[in-house]
Amino acid sequence: MIVMKDVYKKYPNGVVAANGINVEINRGEFVYVVGPSGAGKSTFIKMMYREESPTKGDILINGINLATLRNKRVPLLRRQIGVVFQDFKLLPKLNVYENVAFALEVIEESPKVIRKRVNEVLALVGLTQKARMFPNELSGGEQQRVSIARSIVNVPKVVIADEPTGNLDPDTSWEIMRIFEQINALGTTIVMATHNKEIVNTMRHRVLVVDGGMITRDEDEGVYGYES
Ligand SMILES: Nc1ncnc2c1ncn2[C@@H]1O[C@H](COP(=O)(O)OP(=O)(O)OP(=O)(O)O)[C@@H](O)[C@H]1O
Ligand SMILES: [Mg+2]
Repeated sequence: MIVMKDVYKKYPNGVVAANGINVEINRGEFVYVVGPSGAGKSTFIKMMYREESPTKGDILINGINLATLRNKRVPLLRRQIGVVFQDFKLLPKLNVYENVAFALEVIEESPKVIRKRVNEVLALVGLTQKARMFPNELSGGEQQRVSIARSIVNVPKVVIADEPTGNLDPDTSWEIMRIFEQINALGTTIVMATHNKEIVNTMRHRVLVVDGGMITRDEDEGVYGYES
């Protein structure tokens, strides 16, 4: 599903944020990406949806080689990947329903499909009753649920999340994690960067430890831990 081969990333300021990453993530896996601040977790994730490009190396997402992917084909890639951010990134002038529908409107889905899918995913994240509310009328946890709904509405094969519980209190974080578990149980691959030790050690999944731009550990059912 996701393959990185000898991936190296040097930012224009000279910082090396990926220093020889080799990894394979299979269909249906749930993978945590942990490691100290500045380790390169966000860079690793951004390269998967081509927010950043590697300086060297190959990245394949579901058979699409990002190195040779033309810019005009990036929307094709984005259709296979849902992305969830720490700060939600909802459109403030659109209500919940519209925020989620937008992801399908840009790919020109039919109004009938849009209505059906948006209602399905809003039900999945438990927001049917709040469809007409605006982002600033919602709690942080609700906003994150909208952003998860948006990320899965076009049925991507992979959902990538960068610290999705980073701005949420512990109880709300668990609610959000249960939604990710549910999405994963439906067959979607999940890659999640997190600093949340309790979550990683309780909802056990594969753990990649990133440090100094390298994967220093890779364990199934791993625990949160790294030398820093
Ligand atoms: N756009 C950029 N330009 C230059 N350097 C950058 C850029 N983005 C990140 N870096 C640097 O690359 C390194 C890795 O950053 P990255 O954001 O990937 O770390 P991280 O593991 O996600 O950290 P955190 O846990 O704090 O989110 C850091 O040294 C950072 O300063
Ligand atoms: Mg980060």
